[in-house]
Parts: sequence; C-alpha cells; structure tokens
Amino acid sequence: MALITIDSVSRAFEDTKRKQVVTALDNVSLKVERNDFLCLLGPSGCGKSTLLNMIAGFDNPSSGTVSVGGSIVSAPGADRGVVFQQANLMPWLPVWENVAFHLKMRNVAKPERRERAQRFIEMVGLKGFENHFPSELSGGMNQRVGIARALLMNPEVILMDEPFGALDEQTKMDMHAELIRIWRESRSTIVFVTHGIDESLALGTHVAVMSARPGRIRELLPIELDRPRDPTSTEFNDYKRHILSLLRPEAVTELA
Ligand SMILES: Nc1ncnc2c1ncn2[C@@H]1O[C@H](COP(=O)(O)OP(=O)(O)OP(=O)(O)O)[C@@H](O)[C@H]1O
Ligand SMILES: [Mg+2]
Repeated sequence: MALITIDSVSRAFEDTKRKQVVTALDNVSLKVERNDFLCLLGPSGCGKSTLLNMIAGFDNPSSGTVSVGGSIVSAPGADRGVVFQQANLMPWLPVWENVAFHLKMRNVAKPERRERAQRFIEMVGLKGFENHFPSELSGGMNQRVGIARALLMNPEVILMDEPFGALDEQTKMDMHAELIRIWRESRSTIVFVTHGIDESLALGTHVAVMSARPGRIRELLPIELDRPRDPTSTEFNDYKRHILSLLRPEAVTELA
C-alpha cells in the first residue's frame, strides 16, 4: 500500500467578495510510496500549496480523500512534519530550543530536549551553532533549523513548500545536496513543492507536473537520473525539455 494516497481530490474556494467559486484542484489522484521524494511542480496558483496543506491536514478536500499510512487525513499530526517557505523560527529562542520546540509543547524536560535536539542539529550541519539566535544565522542556516525541527518528531512524511525559494542559487544547490543526504539518512518520504524545473529534477525520485487552474496532475514522471545529478547532462536536459513541453501550452495561453 502506498504511504500517501490522494484519491480524486477536488478543492473549491468560495470567493464571496466576487461571488464566484475558484476551483484550486480538480480531481487529483496521486500515490506516493515510502521513501519517495515527490516534487509537485507547476506554475503559480496551480494549487501546489493547497494540495500540500491537505496532506498536512491544515485544509480538507471539497471532495475526495487524502490518506497517510492508511488513515484518512483530517487534521495535522506528528506523522507529518512541515517545512515552510519562511523558517518561522522563534527569534527569542536559540537554535537548539527552536529545533526542540515541539518537545517543549509536550512538556519534555529541558535536559532531554537539549539532548534530543543535538542529533538533528548535527544532521543539518549546524554543530557549533546550538546557542546562536536565528538573527545571527543566514537564511540557509535558518532553513536548516526549520528542517531539523521537522525531523525531530521523526515524521513518516516531510512536507516542504518552496523551502529554498528565498535562497541564492549557490546556497540553494548546497541545500539540495544536504537535503538529499538527510532524506537518505532519515529514510523519510518527502513531498516538495516547487515551481523550479531544475530544482525538481535535482531532487525528485518523481516529479508531478501540474497544470494551472483548475489544478490537475498533467503527468507523474519517475526520474531515473544518477545522483549527484548533473544539470548539464543530456539526460537531465531531455527531462527538462519534456517538462517544458508539458508546461509551455499554459504559458502561451496565459500570455495571450
Ligand atoms: N484560502 C483561500 N481562499 C480562496 N482562494 C484560495 C485560498 N487558497 C488558495 N486559493 C486559490 O486557489 C488557487 C491555488 O492556490 P495555491 O496557493 O494552492 O497555489 P500555488 O500553486 O501554491 O501557487 P504559488 O506557486 O504562487 O505558491 C489560487 O487561485 C488561489 O487564489
Ligand atoms: Mg504556494
């Protein structure tokens, strides 16, 4: 059985101000197997965040179901860790307390919180920065804290919504390498939202290419490229060309 099953999911938002209904997702079905790294790729407004939020349990489908580990999702849970576009850290807490934040919510004593945070701080390469505050770190380092915080709960699934969107190209590439290492080490399953074709091909075992309004899955592509992935290789560019051909018709109609 697939770890995540999205079965005929539609989501319509009522726009009361304009008296119309926005269909963000239309009959989306998708399966994610354990240890997959699925990238949801599509243009702005195609419903990527809507879909991710429904897996996270922040939102519910208008019709259809989302299941994780065999249970239908209706609320957030510790089996799903979320990493947002902005790290959303507590600026008044040092790195280790941010990483262990969920444990504090569960009234775990400080020495245990400190100890359990350490493994994940090291996993994301922040050893030596345990007592720094978010304002003393770079954007990429803050994102690493957000990833460590999500990993600490040992979730089955990590959900990431354009987590590296604000980073420069070089830092982004470093973070990609780091994330692949973490994904392997933690044996987790990742669903990663992006609008970057290169980013999806650098990371995913699969890329789900979405179409704009109403959001649908245009194609689910298994990516059979060796790692580390070489964006200059012929094979990488063959995938890129194919994805562009799927996305281009929309770009043309949007420009018209
Ligand atoms: N809470 C909401 N109320 C009304 N409409 C919404 C709501 N959330 C999303 N939408 C609409 O649903 C559509 C999909 O939005 P969504 O945020 O999922 O897109 P996205 O693919 O994540 O875009 P981006 O790449 O810009 O983040 C958009 O047309 C948006 O206006
Ligand atoms: Mg979004």
